[in-house]
Amino acid sequence: MSKMLKICKSWFICLSIIFLTTFYPYGKLYSDPLQESNPDHFIDSLLSIMTIEEKIGQLNMFHWPWSAQDDSFKTVYEKMIRDGKIGSFLGIYGVKNTKELQKIAVEESRLGIPLLFAFDVIHGWRTIFPVPLAEACSWDLETIEKTARAAAVEATSSGIHWTFAPMVDIARDPRWGRIVEGSGEDPFLGSMIAAARVKGFQGDKLDDENTLLACAKHFTAYGGVEGGRDYNTVDISDRTLFEVYLPPFHAAVKAGVATIMGAFNEIAGVPMHANEQLLTSVLRNQWGFNGLVVSDWTAIKELQSHGVAADPAAAGMLALRAGVDIDMVSGIYLTELPALVKAGKISEDLINQAARRVLKAKHALGLFNDPFKYHNIQREQNNILSAENLQLARDMARKSIVLLKNSANILPLKKNLKSIALIGGLATDQVSPLGAWAGIGDTHDVISILEGIRGAVSPKTKVSFQAAYDSNGFENYGEFQKASDLVKKCDAAIVVLGEPAQMSGEAASRADIGLPGDQTRLIRMLVKNNKPLVLILMNGRPLALDEVAEETSTILETWHLGVQMGNAVADVVFGDYNPSGKLTVTFPRTNGQIPVYYNHKNTGRPPDFSDHYTSKYIDIPWTPLYPFGYGLSYTTYSYNDLKCDRRSMIINDSLLISVQVTNNGPWEGEEIVQLYLQDEVASVTRPVKELKGFKRIHLKPAESQKVEFLITPDMLSFYDQRMMKTVEPGKFKVFIGGSSENTIEQTFELMQ
Ligand code: NOJ
Repeated sequence: MSKMLKICKSWFICLSIIFLTTFYPYGKLYSDPLQESNPDHFIDSLLSIMTIEEKIGQLNMFHWPWSAQDDSFKTVYEKMIRDGKIGSFLGIYGVKNTKELQKIAVEESRLGIPLLFAFDVIHGWRTIFPVPLAEACSWDLETIEKTARAAAVEATSSGIHWTFAPMVDIARDPRWGRIVEGSGEDPFLGSMIAAARVKGFQGDKLDDENTLLACAKHFTAYGGVEGGRDYNTVDISDRTLFEVYLPPFHAAVKAGVATIMGAFNEIAGVPMHANEQLLTSVLRNQWGFNGLVVSDWTAIKELQSHGVAADPAAAGMLALRAGVDIDMVSGIYLTELPALVKAGKISEDLINQAARRVLKAKHALGLFNDPFKYHNIQREQNNILSAENLQLARDMARKSIVLLKNSANILPLKKNLKSIALIGGLATDQVSPLGAWAGIGDTHDVISILEGIRGAVSPKTKVSFQAAYDSNGFENYGEFQKASDLVKKCDAAIVVLGEPAQMSGEAASRADIGLPGDQTRLIRMLVKNNKPLVLILMNGRPLALDEVAEETSTILETWHLGVQMGNAVADVVFGDYNPSGKLTVTFPRTNGQIPVYYNHKNTGRPPDFSDHYTSKYIDIPWTPLYPFGYGLSYTTYSYNDLKCDRRSMIINDSLLISVQVTNNGPWEGEEIVQLYLQDEVASVTRPVKELKGFKRIHLKPAESQKVEFLITPDMLSFYDQRMMKTVEPGKFKVFIGGSSENTIEQTFELMQ
């Protein structure tokens, strides 16, 4: 009898599965009470009724080819959605377009699983904010979080669920064009900014209608490509990996980032998309990341070019086993995984694991509850380019500007000068302020520098413009002389030089990071006129400016500042805003110094002018042109009274450090007070200094403020020779100041 019962039971289960897998009732997913009460169970039961092909479909992401000649691809893609072969799209946007596809997925595919729509929302959606490297120079975590939030509100209004940002790659080589997408060279600051951006994109509750899944990319060490050449080989020590490149990813994970993207590069022979050690052992097992890993564009396929996979099947197998859940556009998972499972080369469990992560991300956004919550035409119309977002864009832009030189006190200029010569094609360029990766950014929204300056000066001031050079920086025939004549006639000159946006970003590495084309010749010619001259730089990476910096008294680094660029530049040039930005990346003097970064090691023979056999160059100084943390203001700040509350600290205890910062000039302003530490003697070599804290303070003229930092053991820890985190007793130096090189010092001792 009990045998009969067992047989009946198994038949019943089989029949129900066959019934459900063939006729799954539409809408059932969306009313399942398990969604709320037991999400894991909900996802497991969904997985249990999915065919292997449907599960693999969830791992497949395709790109929406906007530029296709005809739209025959649409029929193909729509059928694939109906057949459950696509789990997510990249590049499609707009409520109308995304809703159309979502309807097919929800109403016409067998199970009705919603699609995810992803996009590179890097520094804004339609309201384009400064490029990430520029934003980082504000050191203003609150405002950075706000711009990510604003970008999320706008992008989600256009149907987007997922951004491929923040890019948290540390970059020590400014030749690498993608330095513009990150926060610069420092792992501590990079970690704080990574967390701020994740919070901004993801908001408080992922299932709100205006939150994006964030994606920390590119995991990992992509910024370490040899020679700064994009996509190139990376070969670094475990120490550099764990101390420099990994911390911002770990910070993003701690901040709850929902997704991670793999990096194109290999590290020491293992391409990242086949790197189980880092993608699974470190990221998931050590750090506890339980989100989704997406490949970079065709990176799974590229395992063949790397030479670790003989064919697409081998590439797919390596990537899935390493821990890559979604295949971005190479289509390999879709075509190869079914056969690999059948042949027993890939276990169904592995597929389930990856599919579960995709479904969990969809569930976290609340898409199983309401798959159309991101497709509200009203929101789309109201949220884009709001007055509030434009104000935020201007605020962020002026905070991102770094005053590099003002030795003749030419800045700020008076608004009522009789005449100003504005020189340089970049001053009217409305494309470049949008930066290298502006998604749906529109040039019509951009306030150019010329417009910003004209809008700020008195009605009587005449602003005359001469482009002088073309989009590659080469002289427009005869225009250098015209520019020089114009400067001669005017009360002051503003010269805009630098890189158009396409000279930085992906696949835009430069071997020579000097001013492009003939721009150096132009500035040399113009300074000879002995007129008050302000050099404005617009660029996406540090530039090697050695000669230019010597010949020019006044330099303002403005990067690519987004839609409000012109207004923000005018705010600083005419003193409506006192510049406060500080470099988050070192400026070399010349190309030959690269890589040059502040947190280097001392070496056995630290540079010494009086000793030939020390670590330096014979043709140029070893020091950078402008160091990390550097940036001037219209006022000056002094640092005094650096005190530790005790001379020694016991391991597991903490120590309070204080410093008195005073505004000595006539301008009210914001100063970024920076704390660096050095472990003087340890069992492995330590950097000459490392940023461990910073505070933005606001000071009125003559105002003074005590700034305090708490030193905790974690700030003194490092990896020992076995790569175990440790804190060793001994002497530590504390440096506090307004840049990594301009500091006052103290020491304390860490005791057992
Ligand atoms: C390639 C880039 O490396 C990555 O950052 C980006 O997110 C993808 N393409 C998708 O556009």
